[in-house]
Amino acid sequence: MTQIFKSNRPEEGWTKKFKLDRALISFEDMISEDFFELEREAIFRPSWLYVGRADRIKQPGQYFTKEIEVLKQSVLVVRNKDEQVRVFHNVCPHRGNKLMWNRDASKEVSGQCVNFFCKFHGIQFDTDGNLAVLTERDAWLDGQGDQLKLAEVPFEIWNGFIFVNLHPDGPKETLREFLGDYYWTGFDGYPFEKCSQRYFVRCNSNANWKAMIDGFSETYHAPTTHALPYNVEPGEVSVFPEEHYGINGRHRMMVYQSFGNDVYNFDYERATLAFGTGPRYPFPEELTKLPPAANPTGLENWGNSSHKFWPNFFIQFYNPGWFLTYAMWPLSYNEMRFEIEIFMPPPEDFTQLLSQQASLYMFMDAAIQDFSLLEATQLGLESNAIREYPLCDHEVLVRSFHENIHEVVEDYKRKLNGRNA
Ligand code: FES
Ligand SMILES: [Fe+2]
Repeated sequence: MTQIFKSNRPEEGWTKKFKLDRALISFEDMISEDFFELEREAIFRPSWLYVGRADRIKQPGQYFTKEIEVLKQSVLVVRNKDEQVRVFHNVCPHRGNKLMWNRDASKEVSGQCVNFFCKFHGIQFDTDGNLAVLTERDAWLDGQGDQLKLAEVPFEIWNGFIFVNLHPDGPKETLREFLGDYYWTGFDGYPFEKCSQRYFVRCNSNANWKAMIDGFSETYHAPTTHALPYNVEPGEVSVFPEEHYGINGRHRMMVYQSFGNDVYNFDYERATLAFGTGPRYPFPEELTKLPPAANPTGLENWGNSSHKFWPNFFIQFYNPGWFLTYAMWPLSYNEMRFEIEIFMPPPEDFTQLLSQQASLYMFMDAAIQDFSLLEATQLGLESNAIREYPLCDHEVLVRSFHENIHEVVEDYKRKLNGRNA
């Protein structure tokens, strides 16, 4: 099968439409340790960062931790006894021991508890961060023990997605200002909570965090990288042209058409009602209608709608009505952790369960094809054999992302120099 989508590229091209430069670009921002140090402060410190969905913790006392290595932070997200979400630094305020961890202190944990118990001196805190149990009460000086409480982390919840802000002086802008008007209300009404079946995958790569974002910012690569699962091949005509590209502030989006529900390339796909882009059995009607910001052209046969939020978080909707998140977490200038959370409606019978499971494996197969290229790209870039690279019109979101990265880092450097002058 070679499916060719209808092209909706503007006549002038996307690059011109978005008034972007056409010059060759440098990927020095992916191979420089110094640049990475600037990114920590300029990009990650002031940004609102996605840490998880609120429906991951449904009951009082349920919690999870989130490691944010790029800022050397760990946060603790919990539902308190009044069923409200609270977010704290995952650090004991007595002597600075990391609070919630098992076996390996660098790894994330989740669970359910009444109090958080510190493994060092046994002091406990309740799910509001208040002192619950103070050990050896007699020995404390001037009531300092009684004043212990967990340090709060500023957070906001948008459509069930929890974002934290780790700037030491507090958020520079609200989440609404950060997301912008287009998105703040643009996803309203979509029943995200109906997709309560969560599948989670995490993997590390020896590549810069932006390599994965760039890889998911065009489908120009798809007929080559994913030739096998989608039964396509690269040629002179675009196989997966984009229906729509959008740039909203520093956030970027793309929409693609659907393969159609009667296209199967392999017998096992037909047998399991599954495809590399998801299950094929009918989904609840309310999930099949995209929210306005996700389908600005009103495309009927939408297949995929991808939203790349600054700096490292994606939400992608897939036909017939499920969504996923991607998060690309930098560990160093050439190491990253990639996290995929897939959310689908809970399967109602064995056929639906099989279809979800089969499509997950097919989806992961395609994701691994993307992922396996990263190290090769990083090695190629680090060779410094080529200093400047051309980007075609399909790669306009790659261009826009790197432009924004440079703008924000240069702006930070200017302010820093101004302060030091
Ligand atoms: S460091 Fe936590 S109880 Fe002492
Ligand atoms: Fe891909």
